[in-house]
Amino acid sequence: MNALEKLNEVALILGREELHSPAKDAELIIVHSLGISRETLFRDNPVIDKKTSDHIDALVFRRLMGEPVQYIVGEVEFYGLRIRVGGGVLIPRPETELLVDEVLKAGIGGQGSGGGKKIKILDLCTGSGCIALALASKNPAFEVLATDNSDEALKYARENAGINSIRNARFLRGNLFEPVQGMKFDIIVSNPPYIRTSEIPDLQEEICNWEPVNSLDGGEDGLDYYRMIIASLGNYLLPGGKCFFEVGWDQGDALTELARNYGLRSEFKKDYSGHDRIMMLSF
Ligand SMILES: C[S@@+](CC[C@H](N)C(=O)[O-])C[C@H]1O[C@@H](n2cnc3c(N)ncnc32)[C@H](O)[C@@H]1O
Repeated sequence: MNALEKLNEVALILGREELHSPAKDAELIIVHSLGISRETLFRDNPVIDKKTSDHIDALVFRRLMGEPVQYIVGEVEFYGLRIRVGGGVLIPRPETELLVDEVLKAGIGGQGSGGGKKIKILDLCTGSGCIALALASKNPAFEVLATDNSDEALKYARENAGINSIRNARFLRGNLFEPVQGMKFDIIVSNPPYIRTSEIPDLQEEICNWEPVNSLDGGEDGLDYYRMIIASLGNYLLPGGKCFFEVGWDQGDALTELARNYGLRSEFKKDYSGHDRIMMLSF
C-alpha cells in the first residue's frame, strides 16, 4: 500500500466520527509515523510496509478514543519552534502566538535591543515553555525565567529548550512568583488557567478528558490567577515595565476593572474571532 492510499483510508475512518479536523489529523499521523515531511508525503508517496501500517492503525485507534492528535504525535509547532507535548501538559494554542507578538512589538522587545542591555522577562504558568521559548528564541538579549508548579510540565519545558537549542530561558518549579522572590522584571507574561470551574465539564471532550485540569481551572469566575498576579505586579515589575496576559474571550471588562483598582492601565488586542484576547498592563 502507498502512503496516500493509507492517508485516504485514515481520513475516511476519522471522518466517520465527529472529530474536529479528520483530514488534518490523518495527515499528521501518517507524516509522524513515516518520519517524513508533508512535502515528501505528497511528492514521493512512498510504499508503506505492514509493520508501519499496523503502527498507524494503533495511533488511529488512540485518536478514535478521543486523545488529542498533538499528544499522539507528541509535538506541535509554536512560533516556528518544535514543542513536545504529552499527557500532563497543556497543548499550546494558536491564539497564544498573539501574546508573543504583542510582547515583541512592545518596543523593548524588538530584534537586538542595542547597547547590550539585557531584558528580563518572567513567564508565569509556563506549561510546555512555549511562550518563554518563543520569546527567548527571538532575541539573545532576553533573559527569560519561567515558573510552573507542575513537575510534568517543567519536564517538557526543559526538553523543549534542549531540542530548540535555546539557552537564554530557565525553568523553575513553584507557585507563581514564589521561585523569583525579590527579583524584578522588564516584562511579565502569562497565559494562566482561566476557565470557570463550572464550565470545565462543558469543554470539548478532548480537552476536559485529556488536558490537565490544573492548566484550565481559573476558579469560580475564572479570574483567580489574574487576581493573584495583578496584586503582586507592583513588587515584581521594574519601573516602566509591562505585563501581558492571554485572557478569556469575555473577561476583558472584569479584568480592566480589577487592574484599575491597582492603578494599572489596560489595553487589549483582539484574537482571530474579534474578541479581546491579549491584555497589556502598565502603571
Ligand atoms: C493555561 S496553562 C498555560 C501553559 C502555557 N503557558 C501555554 O500558553 O500553553 C497554565 C499552566 O499553569 C500552571 N499552573 C497552575 N497553577 C499554578 C500555580 N499556582 N503556580 C504556577 N503554575 C501554575 C499549570 O501547570 C499549567 O502549566
